[in-house]
Amino acid sequence: MVLNGPNLNLLGQREPEQYGSETLQDVEATCRAFAKNEGYEIDFRQSNHEGVLIDAIHEAGVKVKAGEMLGVVFNPGAYTHTSIALHDAIKGAEVPVIEVHISNVHARESFRHKSYISSCAEGIVVGMGTFGYQLGIQGLIHKRA
Ligand code: DQA
Repeated sequence: MVLNGPNLNLLGQREPEQYGSETLQDVEATCRAFAKNEGYEIDFRQSNHEGVLIDAIHEAGVKVKAGEMLGVVFNPGAYTHTSIALHDAIKGAEVPVIEVHISNVHARESFRHKSYISSCAEGIVVGMGTFGYQLGIQGLIHKRA
């Protein structure tokens, strides 16, 4: 699963100096093509709602346990810096997560330096632009396959 949090639906038009000019649809197409080449399918999602993201993590947990999914490449957007609920969901559902941030959050405002996701993520990709999603998928395949 490739899961995207709040405001990532605005990719391409939102602060292009931070996030580039690709839309989320472009990212989805690239992820699907990359995964297909590796022999995998992508369940690609975006939500602006914390509870919907939590439900998606729980769903992924069930599928991972059933051997139907490798894990989640997750860009939680601003919930990264606020959501203990997402941290608990990842731990509770025992989902392998690769945390992805398009921008280098550590080179930005100090409120972006704290992540509630990193301590329960298997890996982190930061500041590699939208290419980071592919790196995340590759990392998940490398760790699981
Ligand atoms: C982001 C970084 C977050 O701080 C921000 O709130 C986002 C996007 C990134 O991909 O760089 O929405 O996760």
